[in-house]
Amino acid sequence: MVTILLDGRGDLAEWREAARPLLLARTAPRTIDWRCRSDATSDLFGPAVETPDTAIAVAATAPTMTVPKAFLSLAQAVICHSDPLRFHLLYRVLFRLQEERTLLEVLSDADVAQLHAMEKSVRRDCHKMTAFVRFKEVAAEDGHARRRFVAWFEPDHHIVARAAPFFQRRFTDMDWIIATPKGTAAWNGKALTISAAPAENPMLTDQTDTLWRTYFSNIFNPARLKVKMMMTEMPKKYWKNLPEAKLIPGLIAGAEASVIAMAERAASEAPLFHQRLQALAQTEREVARASAETLEELREDARHCTRCALHCRATQTVFGEGPQDAKIMIVGEQPGDQEDLAGRPFVGPAGAVFNTVAQDAGLVRKDTYVTNAVKHFKYEPRGKRRIHQKPNAGEVQHCKWWLTRELELVKPKLVVAMGSTALMALTDGRQRLSDLRGQIVQLGAGQSLLVTVHPSYLLRIPDEGKRLEETTRFRLDIARAVKFG
Ligand code: URA
Repeated sequence: MVTILLDGRGDLAEWREAARPLLLARTAPRTIDWRCRSDATSDLFGPAVETPDTAIAVAATAPTMTVPKAFLSLAQAVICHSDPLRFHLLYRVLFRLQEERTLLEVLSDADVAQLHAMEKSVRRDCHKMTAFVRFKEVAAEDGHARRRFVAWFEPDHHIVARAAPFFQRRFTDMDWIIATPKGTAAWNGKALTISAAPAENPMLTDQTDTLWRTYFSNIFNPARLKVKMMMTEMPKKYWKNLPEAKLIPGLIAGAEASVIAMAERAASEAPLFHQRLQALAQTEREVARASAETLEELREDARHCTRCALHCRATQTVFGEGPQDAKIMIVGEQPGDQEDLAGRPFVGPAGAVFNTVAQDAGLVRKDTYVTNAVKHFKYEPRGKRRIHQKPNAGEVQHCKWWLTRELELVKPKLVVAMGSTALMALTDGRQRLSDLRGQIVQLGAGQSLLVTVHPSYLLRIPDEGKRLEETTRFRLDIARAVKFG
């Protein structure tokens, strides 16, 4: 067995130099152990590794080698692949090519198919690098006129040298360094330098991050959104190094509402001035803070929510209230007429029923986080009155963005869903209230859910006896929540 030790950093010449004498000596592929220096040193308990035996005997009569051009071009990509078996595969195909001249045309051959798969993976990695490298400006050197930029990228394969000429052509008038765990490329206007040594993430941010976000939210077309395709184009593993990636969940969540709004606007008129201002402010806010970190920030963001059409008629967003460390979160349906005017949940007639029952059951409202599935009042104007309308599934779905963030920030031990709209928002409409009533079930992420009726249901029961009976059941449900929380 001959052991060949290579650096294996995507350098075809290194492999070719080792492969040539072996091939001329007609060394069978299975008798060669190809190794990467980095793997070899970490393989403490593996067999001892020898450096290549340069004195491989070449038969005096050895014919010359056949290396088709198509093989070379495939090999240039495949050698960059991070699979340690690539050296062996390349050699085996080259060895077989000496007898099977048309081997590369047999795409169904397992070796050829594997070569193509590896080539494709390397090509894709290069493409992602050209698309996702984000340069950050760093201070220019004293007396140096050119601006300097640094980028961090995490490729799957050893592609730095292969992809670097693209950046040299594209960003020729600035100095830059692209650092990766698989080596570094640097350009200073005169020379492109490639180093194979792994670099560390410099963890830089600059104003261009905001520019990227602005650009991304502007080119994002909700009407063309195909989440699956988007995830293929911009796989999640790249997100952590992309400043604009923070926006993606929010943009996806709001896409359907934006499409409806766009379609409504498309009728004839340009959007009203205040709507344009509002939309602009919304984008700026999303750019500035893609993901609120406190309830106060979230409440502020929600004040300007335009995710669905309900904001057009409501007086204001009625956001949840209560301490961020509340153990119990109460979720109602949507603000009513009085809540819409006051800007607080459960302050009208249903709120009065809830407060009374809560007090009887030992629930302290000021220690409880109280919110709604939908944050804007939906109603139908009738004369001077505003008649409550139940939010539809789409509205609940759009507003779920806020409820989910409230759940993530408050992290209550127990969530109480009051009524079917709250239940739909919390379980995606998969469950029926009558099946779960009074039970405590798992909600996920260590949280539990108790399902009960909405207090306004009690107000609508005409028969007094029945109303009393149902109110007692409701009180028992809330008391159970108190005990659990
Ligand atoms: N009904 C609800 O569901 N929530 C309120 O805030 C008021 C009435």
